[in-house]
This record gives sequence, structure tokens and C-alpha cells, in this order.
Amino acid sequence: MATDIRHPGGDAPADGPFQVLDATDPKAVGQAVMRHRADTVYHLAAILSAIGEKDPRLAWHVNMTSLEAVLEVAREQGCAVFTPSSIGAFGPNTPKDPTPQDTIMRPSTMYGITKVAGELLCDYYHTRYGVDTRGVRFPGLISYGAPPGGGTTDWAVDIFYQAVEHGRYTCFLGPDAQLDMMYMPDAIDALLQIMEADASRLVHRNAFNVTAMQLTPEGLSAVIREHIPGFTIEYDVDPVRQAIADSWPDRIDDSAARAEWDWNPKFDTAAMTADMLEHLRHRD
Ligand SMILES: NC(=O)c1ccc[n+]([C@@H]2O[C@H](COP(=O)([O-])OP(=O)(O)OC[C@H]3O[C@@H](n4cnc5c(N)ncnc54)[C@H](O)[C@@H]3O)[C@@H](O)[C@H]2O)c1
Repeated sequence: MATDIRHPGGDAPADGPFQVLDATDPKAVGQAVMRHRADTVYHLAAILSAIGEKDPRLAWHVNMTSLEAVLEVAREQGCAVFTPSSIGAFGPNTPKDPTPQDTIMRPSTMYGITKVAGELLCDYYHTRYGVDTRGVRFPGLISYGAPPGGGTTDWAVDIFYQAVEHGRYTCFLGPDAQLDMMYMPDAIDALLQIMEADASRLVHRNAFNVTAMQLTPEGLSAVIREHIPGFTIEYDVDPVRQAIADSWPDRIDDSAARAEWDWNPKFDTAAMTADMLEHLRHRD
């Protein structure tokens, strides 16, 4: 069963059982887990990086209170927990290319701070209480199914909508801002695969670097132009989001995920671009 604090509507209606639930409310989380006899909680609710910089206290409250609620319920009811961390957990003094699995993590955003704290809390619940917690550090996620949620990698989703509708896009990051990205089908595979992985193979738990491609606005524009020849990109750089992007890795090393649970993404830039454009062109 899926839950969210808002009822999904418009572009993203619920296509299965759905319940409105505030994930920061431990009682509500506990009741939902009990009612549905859940054996695994996929805890995705969060305030993302750009919105978190507008309201840091909200980001801390939502991201940390909800995670603590989920972990406590998991401890009491014996379920496993998946929580995504993010490339936002890295900071300006992290090695940028490649960014190792185990490295310096001193992020400069409130979002990143909650993600590092969340990784530590999940590992703590595993070692201290034996809760089966696992996570990945997702890069920017690209999807045609849902609008972007207020992150620094939103441009890599918006660019496709604007390319199909208007043939041009104005980007809030500069032309060479390189970040790791992943197409949503691979992100879903990652989350299912890591939860099904043989626990005895896992050296790490919270959280694994995973990536599928590295994109810059200029580079992705060139690939889109192969499908939409007249497509143009302009730049109107937002200093807040550019500074966040500059503090994140250029390329993360996901060899630990490949070695410990056979992570192997299917979509590269060309395959993702073709599939995104195909779906967006045939939307009604
Ligand atoms: N989108 C990305 O590029 C990306 C990259 C790295 C990691 N992640 C992580 O993946 C997860 C999902 O991200 P997303 O892109 O779907 O974000 P999103 O903003 O699209 O979705 C987050 C959802 O959480 C819900 N929410 C907020 N407060 C809540 C509360 N108190 N109770 C219940 N629900 C609440 C929101 O209504 C929203 O639907 C997050 O943990 C995020 O940090 C996302």
C-alpha cells in the first residue's frame, strides 16, 4: 500500500491501494504497518534539496521525524526498512570524480545533513536493534510519471517536458554542471534489488552509491537535439541551486553496489532520452 500526506491527483493518480498519512506521526505509521501486516517499509517521504534551503527547519522536521517514526515502528513490529539517501549527502570537500563509497561527508545543505544523519541512524538501528535497514544514495531521478519535487536535479526532468511542448528550455544550472542521474525504472529496480539481496553479502547497508549516467545541461541538450533537431537551451542560472550542484559529486563510484548486490542499471543517456521522449509525446 502507498501513503502520502497529500492525496495524489492530476498527473499522478494512485493506481493501487492508497492512504493519506503523515509519516512524522509514529502512531499513524504503526497502525498502517499493523493493518497491512507490512514486512517492509519503503520510506520515501522527504523535503528535497532546493525546498529544504527555503525552509531548513521544515526539512529537518519532516526528514528526521518521519525516519525516526518508521525505524521505531520497524523495531517494534519487526519489519525491514528501505530509505533512500542521496548524492546530496556529499559536500564541497568530498572527492568529486570519482566519489568513493566511503569518503568525507560534510554536506552544506540541510537536505544533505538530514541524509547523512539518516544514513547513520539507519545503520544504528541495524547494529543496535537488528532492524534490517538498507539504502542507496540516489542520484538525480528522471521520470515521466511524476513532476519534479523541488530538487537541484529537476532541470533534467523539466528539460524533456519543455522540449516536447515548446522546443526550448531555460536552465537554472550552467551548461557544464555535471551530476549523476538515473532513469526511474532503474531506480525502482535498485530499491527492489537491494531489499531482496542476500544479507550475508552486504558489507555496507546505509547507503550504497548508485548511478547510471553523468549529465550536463549542454550534453543532454545535444542528445535531445538528435530527436528534436530545432531544440534550443538557454541559461538563467539560479545561484542557490548552482551552489548546491557545485557542492555535489561529478561522478560517484558505485562499485560496492555492483559487488555486493549485483547493481547494474539498464538505461544509459541515449536509451533514457529515447524512452522519455516517446512517453511524453504520447501523453494525452
Ligand atoms: N528525486 C530525486 O532526484 C531524488 C534523488 C535522490 C534521493 N531522492 C530521495 O527519494 C525520496 C523520494 O523523492 P521524490 O523525488 O519522490 O520526492 P517528492 O518531493 O516528489 O516526493 C516526496 C513526497 O513526500 C511527501 N511528504 C512530504 N511530507 C510528508 C509527510 N509528513 N508525510 C507523508 N508524506 C510526506 C510529499 O507529499 C511528496 O509526495 C526522498 O527521500 C528523496 O530524498 C530523490
